[in-house]
Amino acid sequence: MKNILHIISSPQGAQSVSIKLGNSIVSQLQQTFPGSTVTELNLAENPLPHLDETTVTALRTPEDQHSDIQKEAIKASDAAIAQLFDADILVIGVPLYNFGAPSQLKSWLDHIARAGKTFSYSPEGAKGHVEGKKVYLAFSAGAVYSDGPYKAYDFATPYLTAVLGFIGITDITIIRAEGLAFPDMRENAVERALEAFAI
Ligand SMILES: Cc1cc2nc3c(=O)[nH]c(=O)nc-3n(C[C@H](O)[C@H](O)[C@H](O)COP(=O)(O)O)c2cc1C
Repeated sequence: MKNILHIISSPQGAQSVSIKLGNSIVSQLQQTFPGSTVTELNLAENPLPHLDETTVTALRTPEDQHSDIQKEAIKASDAAIAQLFDADILVIGVPLYNFGAPSQLKSWLDHIARAGKTFSYSPEGAKGHVEGKKVYLAFSAGAVYSDGPYKAYDFATPYLTAVLGFIGITDITIIRAEGLAFPDMRENAVERALEAFAI
């Protein structure tokens, strides 16, 4: 039994391929780990706020010195980090937007990558504290990035791999539904993406 956190960043609801792919991965996980709980975090419907001056200042101020305004400002980050630590498995929907991750997903990362909580610095360098998690990236894109001329243009999955790795999450599997701009490739894209997928 696992705690599964399904993070959605597409605003396209029922039309979204990354959500469909993420849901299929979650279903397979539930079959493999009966009795698992699934929590859905829909960042398109409930985006985390972009960091403002108050929040950044709060992030850089020791907690025992926080003003009431700073305590309030940092609540979203506290909640997102608690939810992250609670999860055993994360399924993260990653629609490719202008060769990167959607800003909703970037904003979530800005709240969860937090010094003193999810990573810390020591004389030996940075150390991630979010250990023992498994991540599946449910990637969707109009063009093809797994191979061919646009391979180097997918900045989303290398970026997510780097930032998640920085906070200690290194067990990451990428599942790609791609070429969605081409009708013949769009058909069955999710099924094809899942062909190579094994838990
Ligand atoms: C704002 C925006 C930017 C996009 N940028 C790219 C891109 O850089 N490369 C690409 O291959 N597809 C791009 N697409 C196409 C999406 O990646 C594709 O439609 C994908 O299915 C979206 O995920 P979703 O179906 O889960 O919403 C873009 C779509 C939108 C709406």
